[in-house]
Amino acid sequence: MTASPPITELHFDDAPNVDEVPGPRSRALRERQRAAESSAVLYPTEMPIAFHEGRGATLEDVDGNRYLDFFGGISVLNVGHCNPYVTEAAAEQTRRLPHSLDFPTEPRLDLIEKLDAIAPGDMAGASRVVFGGPTGSDAVEGSIKLAKQYTGNRGMVAFYGAFHGETSGAYSLTADGKYKADYTPLLAEVEHAQYPYPFRQDGAPQETVDRALEDVKTLLADRYGAMPNPAGVWVEPIQGEGGIVVPPAGFMSGLRDLCDDHDVPLIVDEIQTGMGRTGEWWASDHFDVTPDAMTVGKGVGNGHPLSATVYREELDTWGPGGHTGTFRGYNVAMRAALRSIEYVEDHDLLDHATELGTYIRKRLARVDSPLVGQVRGMGLFVGAEFVDEEGRPAPDAVGEVRQRCLERGVLAWGGGRDDNVLRLLPPLVMTHEQAEVGLDIVCDAIERVSAGRD
Ligand SMILES: Cc1ncc(COP(=O)(O)O)c(C=O)c1O
Repeated sequence: MTASPPITELHFDDAPNVDEVPGPRSRALRERQRAAESSAVLYPTEMPIAFHEGRGATLEDVDGNRYLDFFGGISVLNVGHCNPYVTEAAAEQTRRLPHSLDFPTEPRLDLIEKLDAIAPGDMAGASRVVFGGPTGSDAVEGSIKLAKQYTGNRGMVAFYGAFHGETSGAYSLTADGKYKADYTPLLAEVEHAQYPYPFRQDGAPQETVDRALEDVKTLLADRYGAMPNPAGVWVEPIQGEGGIVVPPAGFMSGLRDLCDDHDVPLIVDEIQTGMGRTGEWWASDHFDVTPDAMTVGKGVGNGHPLSATVYREELDTWGPGGHTGTFRGYNVAMRAALRSIEYVEDHDLLDHATELGTYIRKRLARVDSPLVGQVRGMGLFVGAEFVDEEGRPAPDAVGEVRQRCLERGVLAWGGGRDDNVLRLLPPLVMTHEQAEVGLDIVCDAIERVSAGRD
């Protein structure tokens, strides 16, 4: 068995080290892609790079440019690109038995038992897992079926600013009028409530919480406004695509109480926040909330597609075939997932994520720029919301900052309801030294963009 190397040994040592970005080979591959692939392709429209190899928190492109990776495949590469402790097991499993539907295998059961051990709150030791398919959206679909089957109800409550995926059920929960418009009607009987977002909403943080909870209460219980048959409440414990929106204390616990009072399952979407990203295994842990079900995806397989719905065993009332799918037995990703969890444990990466995230937020908060309206997040789930002199969203400024970072070898991503949030989601294996170098570049870029706008 491979040793589990320390985080300092995982990376290209010389990153960032860039010459021309994008270089000629990147441009050529992007042209080939443009000629052959769907116009729905998104990421290279914002970052026209063709990647070639990844190591730890660094990436190399086809022209030999090396980057510090502050977006980690959008919260996927938590233990780093090609972490040898993970790839060894995945490669061995690829040679032995990649696919086995849902027949029992050791990789499958080892992972299920490990997920149960690290599940939030009272779910630990008392959970069940259903695999539905490789993507996060598949897990959300599974959670919708689970909640409907368990309650016999149909209504669903979600939140403004939410992103839960783009398959029809998940898209119904996603709150994105602009992109959904072409595909409606989706599932009927979905209502969205306010999500507390103090930076954007009037009043003290507690008032934003009270208003959000009041909204949910109306939907669950008001004689004159409630949905007649709620099957569940779906919530991101910190909104990711919505702009790293951290709800104030009292929101998640208030939701838990409301769901208990009205006997409605609380389904927490940990697809972007889970697997140690926020400095705890699950963001739910920060709020001392035990979900009835949680959806897991993205970082769980560390780049090997895998998703799951983990739920309290009382909800396990469906029978054989209650939720099926061909690719819910991908042993390669299951081995990778178990190794990723072990790597986080063996290298104290929850503490590391907490410490490094605090450092990154402090650096961003100290930047001398009126553009940065608020810096927020938990662990290595970091967002900086950009505003103009009137306090309005400034998405162009985020784009300019990202472009300057890219040209100097730092990959950062955007997000937010108005695309005006700079998102930093580095692999949890990024070292302090790498973060310092990266933040020098990010902070310099912000100051230069601000100066250019004076
Ligand atoms: C919170 C959340 N839920 C669900 C999804 C959908 O996951 P996928 O893109 O793997 O289908 C995402 C993806 O960004 C997400 O952030």
